[in-house]
Amino acid sequence: MRRLLPGRPAPVTDVPPKTGDTRPLPGHVAIIMDGNGRWATGRGLPRIAGHKRGINSVRKITRHAKARGVRYLTLFAFSTENWLRPKEEVHGLFDLFRYYMRRECRTLAREGVRIRFIGDSSEMPQDIQSMMVEAENMTAAGDTMTLIVALNYGSRAEIVTATQRLAARVAAGELSAGDITDTMISAELNTSDFPDPDLIIRTSGEQRLSNFLLWQAAYSEFLFVDRHWPDFDEPSFDECLDLYCQRDRRFGGLRKSG
Ligand code: FPP
Repeated sequence: MRRLLPGRPAPVTDVPPKTGDTRPLPGHVAIIMDGNGRWATGRGLPRIAGHKRGINSVRKITRHAKARGVRYLTLFAFSTENWLRPKEEVHGLFDLFRYYMRRECRTLAREGVRIRFIGDSSEMPQDIQSMMVEAENMTAAGDTMTLIVALNYGSRAEIVTATQRLAARVAAGELSAGDITDTMISAELNTSDFPDPDLIIRTSGEQRLSNFLLWQAAYSEFLFVDRHWPDFDEPSFDECLDLYCQRDRRFGGLRKSG
């Protein structure tokens, strides 16, 4: 079996790509949902209207990714840097999370989608923390797809915490510094239960990672799409899968076709 990192099995999917290409679809797709603000201001609307429309895309793409056989879908919903936005936008976003969780959790559970969160939940409002725990419990049996929501997530902070944990084990004499491996670091990250993303999509034309899954993206394929997130629909997602299937993933090795 192809391996992403030592000890980390590559995800596989059941559904072949629409193009008839024999390359497997990505098992794990991660999305930086960018452009909600620009979508709204371009229409003379307040930024929060863009985030509201963004929720529709979250719903549509989650359902569609599952239908296409994607096993893990990670959505970057709120970064550790997003606290720098005006208070009313942050509160508006939190209200939208509440709305989404109230409306969607039961549906996700019924559809067999397991929801998991990554990021530092301790800084989120208490009621949202409770909703997160409830959502994870309610959907725990889901086995069709895992929806990973990155909420108050920052990759550097995650790596710092992982490093501190390993350093503490070294200080306690449980481990020697030279024995630390990349597998051990992966195991200390928020994403330890999930495979690394095969494909990372960023909408809205920007071409950067913005502190998202820095370690996990070592061998991910990247697609930067011009559409704003509220306009990113099922055909856009299919197009990304098709483009992914045309990529030649070598993981540092040589082309299979020579
Ligand atoms: C980036 O657009 C988007 C965000 C910071 C928030 C994304 C949140 C949602 C789509 C809704 C909630 C999600 C879930 C999973 C319930 P931007 O505001 O940076 O857009 P801009 O770059 O055009 O200003």
